[in-house]
Amino acid sequence: MRKDKSYMFRLLCSACLIFTINLTTTAQNNGFSPGALWPDNNAVHINAHGGGILYQKGTYYWFGEHKIPGEAGNTAQVGVHCYSSKNLYNWKDEGIALKVSNDTANDIAKGCILERPKVVYNKLTNKYVMWFHLELLGKGYDAARTGVAISNNVAGPYTFLKSYRPNAGFMPFYMPGTPENEKINKQHPANKSDSIFFRDFPTGQMARDMTIFVDDDGKAYHIFSSEENNTLHLAELTNDYTGHTGKFIRIYIGHSTEAPALFKRHGKYYMIGSGCTGWAPNAARWFSANSIWGPWTYQGNPCKGDRAKLTFGGQSTFVLPVAGKNDAFIFMADKWAPKDAIDGRYIWLPITFNGDKPEIKWLNNWNLDVFQN
Ligand code: GAL
Repeated sequence: MRKDKSYMFRLLCSACLIFTINLTTTAQNNGFSPGALWPDNNAVHINAHGGGILYQKGTYYWFGEHKIPGEAGNTAQVGVHCYSSKNLYNWKDEGIALKVSNDTANDIAKGCILERPKVVYNKLTNKYVMWFHLELLGKGYDAARTGVAISNNVAGPYTFLKSYRPNAGFMPFYMPGTPENEKINKQHPANKSDSIFFRDFPTGQMARDMTIFVDDDGKAYHIFSSEENNTLHLAELTNDYTGHTGKFIRIYIGHSTEAPALFKRHGKYYMIGSGCTGWAPNAARWFSANSIWGPWTYQGNPCKGDRAKLTFGGQSTFVLPVAGKNDAFIFMADKWAPKDAIDGRYIWLPITFNGDKPEIKWLNNWNLDVFQN
């Protein structure tokens, strides 16, 4: 009897130990392992592809495409997934922030294509605003629309507002006086992309891969692949961030830039993007500008070292300024898995600066200590 009791006690202790070890090992990440599975608080690989991050009051919120297994995962079967984190290593599942609709006539009907969601906070309306690339159900990539949804709560639920092609009837705006912009103005129309621009002029410009950037003065911009993906547009949003004002510029006309990600450092604007090869990786490209309205100058590939020509197998989605640190920016990329979409991985790498040139180098494992300040 005594023997039985101590046996039971030891059994119970081992079970507790295993349980505790299990809890701690599954829940705690101490750094970033680019390209590896990234377990959330439930030990499930994070499901937030083509994502972006909003930092609010000490917490980071990561929004991205929720994918399901197989090729069906390349369409939106569930919606936009949200996770939260205080330290960027460990993420808590906050659930689905924007759900697709079961009504097949709805713009965001289940089975549509809803990509690259980005959320920003609007101080004037006290609302969270989510923008995304939207392709209507059953129409492949033909619709080329942007969609917008809002919420009173950062993690949602978000209410879908509308989807459309922006800036119908508007000509691009260029800052006068800079030689490069004068040149661009003179060139019009001068590129294969221009005919597409004018084709879509009356009905609105195509809007696919995208990001949203909020400047220090609170103005927000939508940057998207337009004109059959030939040319990027950078367009101003209205003060409540839920529409376009009609003021926009065209960037790197005719060079097929996708996956734009913007950031600002020491008053200078930077953009990292990719070429246009579908889910397959290609070389990243970066641009800089002294004004948000350009001129935006192409600067080559920021990635260095092995596999730099293929962005280490990834494609940009966002550049995250680390809160509370100077000069600390994380390059966020997706390593797509189109045959089994849910298995897509995340490649997060620190951006280092050589003078004012951003550089991205591969690291198997790293943590925020790489940033000095
Ligand atoms: C990529 C794009 C992705 C997705 C994919 C579809 O070029 O960046 O967001 O649209 O094409 O093939």
